[in-house]
Amino acid sequence: MYKVSIIGAGNVGASAAADLAVSQLANVVLIDINGGVAKGKALDIVQTGPILGHGALITGSVDYSATANSDVIVITAGIARKKDMSRDDLLKINAGIVSAAALEAVKYSPNAIFIVVTNPLDVMTSLVQQVTGLPSTRVIGMAGVLDSARLESFIAEYLQVSPLDVRAMVLGGHGDLMVPLPRHASVKGVPVCDLVPAEILDAMLKRTVHGGAEIVGHLVTGSAYYAPGASVAVMVKSILLDERRLLPCSVMPHGEYGLTDVYVGLPCIIGRNGLEKIVPITLTEEEQAALVISANSIKASIALTDSLLHPVEITETEAEEKAAEAEEDTTTAKPPAPTSANTGDAK
Ligand code: NAI
Ligand code: 2OP
Repeated sequence: MYKVSIIGAGNVGASAAADLAVSQLANVVLIDINGGVAKGKALDIVQTGPILGHGALITGSVDYSATANSDVIVITAGIARKKDMSRDDLLKINAGIVSAAALEAVKYSPNAIFIVVTNPLDVMTSLVQQVTGLPSTRVIGMAGVLDSARLESFIAEYLQVSPLDVRAMVLGGHGDLMVPLPRHASVKGVPVCDLVPAEILDAMLKRTVHGGAEIVGHLVTGSAYYAPGASVAVMVKSILLDERRLLPCSVMPHGEYGLTDVYVGLPCIIGRNGLEKIVPITLTEEEQAALVISANSIKASIALTDSLLHPVEITETEAEEKAAEAEEDTTTAKPPAPTSANTGDAK
């Protein structure tokens, strides 16, 4: 059996653990600062075995030595924004939690592939790669699988077809500047643009961009976790079984799509080595511009995080200048609203 350790036994971590248990692919170790939560949830999931028919070993602990020699490490640890807490406060706290978790985990599993889930996703993924020093192919962020699944489910619901036959892709950062690609959406190969009226498809794209907030609006005290947990499980499976699935994930490009030095959602082949390949697909000029704007906005957030974590090494003014530079790139061109009519010349 493979071994997967999940740091953060909260809603997303436990949901992913439950999905992995059912798949019988891996034994799972849940780690949480609250050891009772990790142990209790692990026991609860083990007891689904006789009902759902799996015999996976799920354990919980506060001690990272329990994660030793994991094949995959998933990081979901963090806190949600509280009243009176600024976004910068949250960024700094989660950056501290995620860096410490990644450093502990890599000490015990230097050969693992890391999947990062904690928000802000693209920034936290970048941070994990930086602090662990792992090759960027072995540190991957989960967001595109979830964002794409949201769009796929809206399309399936509207057309009353099985969600299994719907395929769609959302690239870019996990935030308001994400880039849905309606031209590449299909129902078993039939272009969705031919099946769904443009104004309805446009509404679906907007709903996708705000998909996380829609769920927070209902839940009030938390955010989505079933679909995020399932998205993690799909990525873990593609890695462990070397399935080489084509999945949109937050990865570090080295010139692909004209991008470097930033973690951003791109179409990837995910296999036993983690990121096997970034897949080049044709984008229209508008799609490419939207992707660059999204990437530049992530770069600005990464610069801000650097300044919050290393206030001595980089002065606030320098950080602000750095962030402003990246922000300028972001704002010089306005992103086109995601629309099904973005069908200009592909390049
Ligand atoms: P949650 O609050 O249910 O779970 C977070 C867990 O982290 C808690 O159990 C907490 O005790 C633990 N934790 C806090 N500090 C820790 C530390 N230092 N070491 C170990 N564990 C620690 O939150 P939930 O819903 O599971 O979400 C987790 C993260 O994932 C959040 O940042 C959320 O915004 C993000 N998220 C990202 C998604 C994506 O698409 N990338 C989708 C859904 C959630
Ligand atoms: C989501 O998209 C909160 O990022 C999380 O549901």
